[in-house]
Amino acid sequence: MTLVAERTSTVSVHKMHPIIGAEIRGVDLSRPLDDDTLRQVKDAWHQHAVLVFRNQKLSEDDQRRFASYFGPVAKRVPPPKGAIKVDTVAWDDMMMITDQVDKDGKPVGSLGHGEMYFHTDKCYHRKPHRATFLYGIDIPSEGGHTLFSSMYAAYDKVSPELKERLKDAMVMQGYQYVGGKRIDRSLDLKDIHHCRQPLFLTNPGSKRKGLYVATLNTMWIEGIDRDESERILLQMFDIVEDPSIIYEHHWQVGDLLMWDNLACLHARTDWPQEQVRTLRRCTVEGEPLY
Ligand SMILES: [Fe+2]
Repeated sequence: MTLVAERTSTVSVHKMHPIIGAEIRGVDLSRPLDDDTLRQVKDAWHQHAVLVFRNQKLSEDDQRRFASYFGPVAKRVPPPKGAIKVDTVAWDDMMMITDQVDKDGKPVGSLGHGEMYFHTDKCYHRKPHRATFLYGIDIPSEGGHTLFSSMYAAYDKVSPELKERLKDAMVMQGYQYVGGKRIDRSLDLKDIHHCRQPLFLTNPGSKRKGLYVATLNTMWIEGIDRDESERILLQMFDIVEDPSIIYEHHWQVGDLLMWDNLACLHARTDWPQEQVRTLRRCTVEGEPLY
């Protein structure tokens, strides 16, 4: 059966936080979107960085179709040869983020349980993934929230002196396949995914400047002494984690969230060990930032 786009004139945008995040109402993502609806969704995405669609009933194909309006749906990338081995399911375009295990105790998905520090998806690749789409399937009764920190607001909080001094600086972004904490900066780069990226990026959609450091991923600022780099990064991590620039999303089953990986960072909070949390994720490809 071919689904046809349904014309809708009932799209509305409701801010979830003064500076980041909005709920979109009046859109059924289980159907193709007409041009006018899609334009409104894209405008809201550029403006608010994080969009929330409640009460969606989405198959994998529905989620993939919606994501594809924003770019080619990305294949997942396995860890490099030297990386610590992790149990995971197939490396296709959909990722089940879950702490569920099968009857033998083997994980049925990825990224297991517990807190994760602020990061952006695939900032450690030459072409960071442009957007992420996450669908709520099993939600714990408490915790397991997703935090979104505005890169634009973070940039605004950097001192004018540092903005000027580091205006062309690059940072090393990396990813370690275990734990949700700060990457170990003593790791050999050949054993991890890593990529140099601009410290201050210009978002290709909104053209606004953002601070591109993430508590989980950023190893150092290039071109300056490592101790000084660390001192400056710790200041920047404090900015990123300032509660005034963070929207905290409390999940409901049927939520579809999408966000701009070049406009916000995200993190997750812990939840009770005995409770299951399952979200289905896909991303779309982006372009090199330099
Ligand atoms: Fe993530």
